[in-house]
Amino acid sequence: MSAGLEVRGLNKSFGGLKVAQNIGFDLKPGDRKALIGPNGAGKTTFANLITGALQPNSGSIRLDGADIANLKESQRVKAGVAKTFQITTLFKRMSVRENIRLPILERTGKSRNGFVRADRNPDVEREIDEWLGQFNLSRFSEIPVQDLAYGQQRLVELALTLALRPRILILDEPSAGVPSSDSHIIADAIERLPGSLSVLIIEHDMKLVFQVASHIVVLVNGTILTEGTPEEISRNPQVRELYLGGRHEA
Ligand SMILES: Nc1ncnc2c1ncn2[C@@H]1O[C@H](COP(=O)(O)OP(=O)(O)O)[C@@H](O)[C@H]1O
Ligand SMILES: [Mg+2]
Repeated sequence: MSAGLEVRGLNKSFGGLKVAQNIGFDLKPGDRKALIGPNGAGKTTFANLITGALQPNSGSIRLDGADIANLKESQRVKAGVAKTFQITTLFKRMSVRENIRLPILERTGKSRNGFVRADRNPDVEREIDEWLGQFNLSRFSEIPVQDLAYGQQRLVELALTLALRPRILILDEPSAGVPSSDSHIIADAIERLPGSLSVLIIEHDMKLVFQVASHIVVLVNGTILTEGTPEEISRNPQVRELYLGGRHEA
């Protein structure tokens, strides 16, 4: 009955700046929701409150009915909440294969052995091959991440995060920095995510938002202005005025 993520009365201030004001938010298994809003609206802060990178001033965060607000970030990852790694956290000189190996070793508790030889972990190597295949990265397997195009690097980030096998996936601007000609790679990857995974996508690219989200939440000044289906949001005059500048023709 209480499956998924339930956020109630979430508040966060930075000094006098209120960046989350009484936010209520639900994410059920299989949901595809988007969080949109102008720069500085508090979207990344909201994501960080969910992952535990930031502590709220008040409010509750429940996962399958259990309060996770007091769990540390690493404990929330174990509970199934993951946000995509940022590009800077990838070990850029390491190959794509070596990068994807890390979260698998972490998840399966093999990381305490350090960099175990690949031939001793055929299961791990097989799983890496599966992730590489799923994200069309097989041909880049042995290439250092820093030598990949930016869009491909974002795919590696996504693969790394999914290798933790989260139940809640938060994507903070997955297409940022990706040339628009390549943004379909990101969209395709999101559309192929497991159906049971709950996804919250924070994104400026409205085409991508409309392609992957079935529910959109609009955040302005730390407050939810409105929410609804993509159709409702694109028709909402307040949204068009405040966020889209009245110019969006969706
Ligand atoms: N650690 C911080 N300390 C002080 N102010 C912050 C901090 N992080 C973000 N802010 C401010 O909070 C507001 C919301 O930021 P953010 O959540 O990053 O917005 P968004 O992701 O919607 O662009 C902005 O005004 C930003 O400058
Ligand atoms: Mg942000």
